[in-house]
Amino acid sequence: MPRAKRIRESTRDDAPDRQGARREPSGAHPFGERREITALFYDLIDSTRLLTHSDLEDFQDVIGAFQGRSCAAVSAHGGSVSEVLGDGGLAFFGYPEPLEDCATAAIHAGLDIVDACRQLAAHAGWGDLHVRVGIATSDVVIQATEGRISAGVTGVAPVLASRLQSIAQPDSVVVSERTRRLARRHFAFRYLGPRRLKGFDEQQEIWGARRRTINATRFLALGRWSHRMIGREDELAAALAAWRSAVAGRGRALVLRGPAGIGKSRLAFELFRRIRAERARLIVFQCSRRGAHAALSPLVDLLRSASGAAAGTTDPTFRQIASLMRREGISDALAIERIAFAAGADVPSKQSMEEVGPQQFRERIVWAVRRCVEDWARAGPIVIAVEDLHWIDPTSRDLLRDLAGWIRDKPVLLILTTRERPAWLDPEPHVTQITLDRLSAAEAGQLLADLLPEVKAGPFRARRFL
Ligand SMILES: Nc1ncnc2c1ncn2[C@@H]1O[C@H](COP(=O)(O)OP(=O)(O)O)[C@@H](O)[C@H]1O
Ligand SMILES: [Mg+2]
Repeated sequence: MPRAKRIRESTRDDAPDRQGARREPSGAHPFGERREITALFYDLIDSTRLLTHSDLEDFQDVIGAFQGRSCAAVSAHGGSVSEVLGDGGLAFFGYPEPLEDCATAAIHAGLDIVDACRQLAAHAGWGDLHVRVGIATSDVVIQATEGRISAGVTGVAPVLASRLQSIAQPDSVVVSERTRRLARRHFAFRYLGPRRLKGFDEQQEIWGARRRTINATRFLALGRWSHRMIGREDELAAALAAWRSAVAGRGRALVLRGPAGIGKSRLAFELFRRIRAERARLIVFQCSRRGAHAALSPLVDLLRSASGAAAGTTDPTFRQIASLMRREGISDALAIERIAFAAGADVPSKQSMEEVGPQQFRERIVWAVRRCVEDWARAGPIVIAVEDLHWIDPTSRDLLRDLAGWIRDKPVLLILTTRERPAWLDPEPHVTQITLDRLSAAEAGQLLADLLPEVKAGPFRARRFL
């Protein structure tokens, strides 16, 4: 294939197995400049087959549009397309323009290319149109050359990116270990294992990159839920009834109350598992002892971690929060700005937000949260869970009180778990409180037998354990 050959040629002096031997102090290099860059390789899958099945002009239109969108995605994130090769291409991040965070920028661009391909496929009615993206980072030696960028780039990154692209699943972005390490705070990665790749002596650790979302994958991935659910039939039925009501546009708030370890989170999870097939979206806010006196801490914590800002060290940037919220379908610019401000980001209207008094600030946030929930629920009914309400900070509590009253005609189920009765929550018909009692001795015995199959758990023994 001419494309693969050209890349091999451009990198022939830096075969992967000789990588170590080529290391030199950063910058100075007898044959050019040494720099860390990230290479991105993208390619449509099986486009020759698509060509044989479609009108030539249609084909050209779609491929042209795909290339246009892909190049735009690369430049939007500060990269440069080095070569456009028929139905694919090679781009560099960090060269020729230096880029602070080239791995993160490349992954953003790669995910945008996948999105663009999906949109074009839907638009053109071409279900078979899929793309693969491979991304890798390495030091390279750069020689100033004639026109074509890749001719002057010698290093592992472009070869590895091309190999990773070739093994990626359709519409996915696969990245090298070094790329993942550099971008780990900004995306969710799935380990795809060590893989043997052509031309590489050592196995390569590879990863699938996804955007972070605020949908509650972390909650679901906690792993404490693998054993079966015991009992709680009545409580689950009440929770499901509340969900049905929300689906019908009559929002409900469900308070699950009981001491630590009684099974509040488990019940919430079980509900979500049951309604998952309905493509319900779940967003989980976690209150914490540490955040009990920090304004809006469950919201701020979630935004920080989902937008990729390091916990406790730096504030997320306005751009990080805005792009996270837009990805979630929230489009109201003012609401985004106010929420981003609350999360500590430096927003354009910072000064005017700082000038308002606490009451007005609270009203603005209430308004912004309502707008966000409206936008979020536009795609379908949603579940908002707030865990461990006994630690909620006063500002969040006010916000939640407002939300609990406001959702009654919205497709929203609010689940609140708490150890104490939330006396501040107005008793309204659409607010249901469920107190979780201890499991019966027989149920507790079953639970114990599931958890510790080696213990012969009769009711009597079970009581001693629980
Ligand atoms: N009814 C149940 N069936 C099976 N496991 C349960 C049940 N209730 C609680 N558990 C398990 O007990 C542990 C503590 O429950 P959890 O829901 O975290 O308590 P809480 O949220 O009330 O503090 C979890 O591992 C959970 O899976
Ligand atoms: Mg819990």
